[in-house]
Amino acid sequence: MAVAFNRLALTRLPTLTRSTVAPACRHHNSMTADLINNMDKKETWDRFYQENNGVRNFKNFEWFFGFDAVRDLILPLLQPQQSSDAAGRVLDMGCGTSALGPGIFRHSPWPVHVTCADISPVAVRLLKEQSKSRPVQPGHPSSSLTFLEMDCSVLQTQFDLGSLDLIIDKGTTDALLRSREGRAKAGQILRQCLGVLRQSGCLLQFSDEDPDARMLWLEGESGGLGERAAGIGVQEVGVLRGVCYYCYLITPPSRAH
Ligand SMILES: C[S@@+](CC[C@H](N)C(=O)[O-])C[C@H]1O[C@@H](n2cnc3c(N)ncnc32)[C@H](O)[C@@H]1O
Repeated sequence: MAVAFNRLALTRLPTLTRSTVAPACRHHNSMTADLINNMDKKETWDRFYQENNGVRNFKNFEWFFGFDAVRDLILPLLQPQQSSDAAGRVLDMGCGTSALGPGIFRHSPWPVHVTCADISPVAVRLLKEQSKSRPVQPGHPSSSLTFLEMDCSVLQTQFDLGSLDLIIDKGTTDALLRSREGRAKAGQILRQCLGVLRQSGCLLQFSDEDPDARMLWLEGESGGLGERAAGIGVQEVGVLRGVCYYCYLITPPSRAH
């Protein structure tokens, strides 16, 4: 898996279109104070997805933006190294009802096993039912798509150490960092991710948090600076109504002795 980001290198990508992000902003604006303060709680998200969806009128909810806005960042990372036939293992962590995981499954020309995981059983059920009622065709015949209800702060109970190639976090860490009691859990999730990633793997965090704050947090929570530090990079995804969105790329520290 090729990791192309430089530490603190900001590369401008095209400005996000209003239509890709506006629905998420509208939802965001209408969230109650309860949701804003308690975005680390399963019950909050269960209620949120329940109120925003019904099986008959299901619509994917996208935090910030959807798959199309970031597909060019994600798909190149899935290309197998050398001539390996092994499918890449991808986790959409805190998937909600986003179409990101199904989008990767559909558009990756290379074999991928995509797991969409969320703490909210309501979100997982809605996404699973949608994929049954409107099946998505894989971009490669060996690809698979699965849905999992789980608390990602204990990823290592579900995934073997060094077993995943790519973890995508679109708004999940942001949600935890912005809730009253979520900061410690966000750090725990970051460390769990670094453990379950392959040495060549990476974690992408999509966020609107400024690099001055997020880079400091990432360095602190992933073990600080030095030779055995995690690799941390950032790239601008785009700007919408004056808000800049970023992609933070984190790679595991060397496990060599
Ligand atoms: C801001 S939403 C983003 C949802 C989705 N990634 C998107 O882009 O629309 C945050 C998601 O993280 C999930 N979440 C919060 N804490 C979690 C945890 N500990 N483990 C797994 N998912 C979690 C919530 O249920 C919610 O779906």
